Amino acid sequence: MPILDLSIDELLTTTRSVRKRLDLTRPVEPEVIRECLTLALQAPTPGGGQRWHFIVVTDPSQREALAALYHKSTRSPGGQEDILNQMIAAAADQQEAAQLTRVAESPRYLTEHLHEVPVHVIPCIEGRTENLSAVEQAAHWGEIWPATWSFMLAARSRGLGTVLTTLHLDFEREAAEVLGIPYEQVMQVGLIPVAYTLGTSFKPAGRKPLDEVLHWDRW
Ligand SMILES: Cc1cc2nc3c(=O)[nH]c(=O)nc-3n(C[C@H](O)[C@H](O)[C@H](O)COP(=O)(O)O)c2cc1C
Repeated sequence: MPILDLSIDELLTTTRSVRKRLDLTRPVEPEVIRECLTLALQAPTPGGGQRWHFIVVTDPSQREALAALYHKSTRSPGGQEDILNQMIAAAADQQEAAQLTRVAESPRYLTEHLHEVPVHVIPCIEGRTENLSAVEQAAHWGEIWPATWSFMLAARSRGLGTVLTTLHLDFEREAAEVLGIPYEQVMQVGLIPVAYTLGTSFKPAGRKPLDEVLHWDRW
């Protein structure tokens, strides 16, 4: 698969959450997804356990069912839609409200179009966290996040856009039924919509200055 001409630093600074610039009409070849997942499997995982699994969903009716669960989560009390509306209502003035409305466009767009995104990737990990201590939970989640991010970086390097989402997990059990996942033994950790991007140029995100978050030797 062709690889974009990006330096490693460019890859690390321009792998953004892509929603409105996902090309919903261009098919994604199964091989490129396999290639990105092969790279992802090189990520660290505790004790060589490799308890990770990745479900690639391309079947339109399966994607529609997952998107419906995601949509339901955003509309739940206290869900994304309530949070976005509260944020906009709390704006200091009309100008800020207009700016926040623009910020809300991207998550709202994804909610409305998720079923059209050609590939959904669901990273999963064997075992559930519900009854684990904090230290056990840290290791458990940590078994799958590095590989998940590697997948997203590899996707970007091949012209694909992704966004890490977790909202469908409000209805994880229902999603497990849709996908045939043994819910008691295997936990889904997110849903990554994947599509080619409209254009390949992305900018680094605005972030707090390093010195606001850097603690050297002590807090
Ligand atoms: C753990 C985690 C969960 C997220 N869940 C969602 C989600 O359910 N839906 C969504 O649209 N974005 C989700 N995001 C994306 C964030 O809302 C945000 O857009 C992103 O982290 C910042 O992207 P940027 O650096 O490209 O600006 C999630 C991000 C993370 C790290």
